[in-house]
Amino acid sequence: MKKEIKIEEMSLSDLESIKDILISDFDDFWNYNILKEELESIDSKYIVAKTNDGEIISFAGIKIIVDTADIMNIVVKKSWRNQGVGNLLLNNLVSLCKNLNLSSLSLEVSENNIPAIHLYEKFGFKQIGLRKDYYNGKDGIIMQYLMHKK
Ligand SMILES: CC(C)(COP(=O)(O)OP(=O)(O)OC[C@H]1O[C@@H](n2cnc3c(N)ncnc32)[C@H](O)[C@@H]1OP(=O)(O)O)[C@@H](O)C(=O)NCCC(=O)NCCS
Repeated sequence: MKKEIKIEEMSLSDLESIKDILISDFDDFWNYNILKEELESIDSKYIVAKTNDGEIISFAGIKIIVDTADIMNIVVKKSWRNQGVGNLLLNNLVSLCKNLNLSSLSLEVSENNIPAIHLYEKFGFKQIGLRKDYYNGKDGIIMQYLMHKK
């Protein structure tokens, strides 16, 4: 049976509870200390996805810069990938940005990160730039999603 998934603001205790499995289970590109700094920064907003039995299966965060935001991190627990969780988190990040009345959401992704590029393209992000040789010889693709303000 599919478990119910809830989205909440991410707390330091959420981070503590996944501290030891960040690399093994989340394959995250940031370490605990950087994430802790992010969570404590007033410009950042982080959300977390939990199952109804409390398992943290994904987290994502943005940094707000004036009236725009950058996605700093979005990661789904390995055993939960390709089941729509990334899509759910991204949807929530966009809603958060709309609620904050921001005009756009941007990110940078390595050209060889096919799952992430699929997710962003499916969502409607458009490539707006390229940073040459950014990730160990791979180009970084800069993508943007424009909020449709009324
Ligand atoms: C990128 C990531 C967040 C995607 O999360 P996810 O929960 O697996 O994605 P979803 O299940 O919501 O899938 C969204 C879309 O991407 C596609 N997708 C997911 N994994 C894929 C893969 N391995 N190859 C190709 N497409 C893939 C899905 O098919 C889906 O499109 P569809 O509905 O048209 O089929 C996840 O792979 C991850 O945590 N990666 C490691 C961290 C990372 O690289 N983050 C991005 C940094 S910029």
